[in-house]
Amino acid sequence: MMEAGLIQAEGVDKIYNRGKPDEIRALTNVSLQIKPGEVVVLKGPSGSGKTSLLSLIGCMARPTSGRVLVRDKDVAKLPERFLTQIRRKTFGFIFQQFNLIRKADVLENIALPLFPCNMTMAETRERAEAILDRFGLSGKRNRKVHRLSGGEQQRVAIARALINNPEVLIADEPTAHLDRKLAEDLAEILSALHRDGKTVIIATHDPFLYDHPFVDRIIVMQDGRIEGVIPS
Ligand SMILES: Nc1ncnc2c1ncn2[C@@H]1O[C@H](COP(=O)(O)OP(=O)(O)OP(=O)(O)O)[C@@H](O)[C@H]1O
Ligand SMILES: [Mg+2]
Repeated sequence: MMEAGLIQAEGVDKIYNRGKPDEIRALTNVSLQIKPGEVVVLKGPSGSGKTSLLSLIGCMARPTSGRVLVRDKDVAKLPERFLTQIRRKTFGFIFQQFNLIRKADVLENIALPLFPCNMTMAETRERAEAILDRFGLSGKRNRKVHRLSGGEQQRVAIARALINNPEVLIADEPTAHLDRKLAEDLAEILSALHRDGKTVIIATHDPFLYDHPFVDRIIVMQDGRIEGVIPS
């Protein structure tokens, strides 16, 4: 039997503001398959559709046409609450614009994904403290996020994405605000996730990331289409 794809896109189109004067076609006929444990990079110029594709893969949006399957389930056919469930159970997200709560402190931001999980406060705190420690953020646990540097905010965003121990990490331009040293730390984290058999999907135009040995496959995007796959 063929190994099942964890994530599959079949002939996916994404059109924003459909039928309006500002209609934008972001993705055209995109098909791909991602296997469990793969590290895949989406590479392409600004506006080529990387973030749009990540949103579809991560069940944050629905395609205009075509299908997105997560573990053989057609995402477009699921009611919103099931979609939310899949999102929480399967994915950790590092967003391009962090999406942190600026006026909340570091600990609150990191613990946020745990709140729907029926954990006790003590368990929540223990998990959050462990991950703070791992990311060198323990000393900043009570600092409001808007008073952190860009690199520190990036690390909070990464810690928050990993706190649920997700099977799939989705990272949108995760080195955008990092210097070389922090980018190397991030690469270490991603390598460790790869060794643990996690699936990682990264959108980036940073050669430091897409040329890294942990990358299994590069999907090259251009004008909303997949232009090529390396290795093909
Ligand atoms: N929410 C939205 N509403 C309308 N248009 C959008 C929306 N999000 C993206 N677009 C448009 O869709 C196209 C693809 O955008 P997308 O953000 O997916 O590209 P990207 O490859 O992630 O770019 P970047 O490297 O700058 O992050 C662009 O033309 C963009 O302007
Ligand atoms: Mg983007």
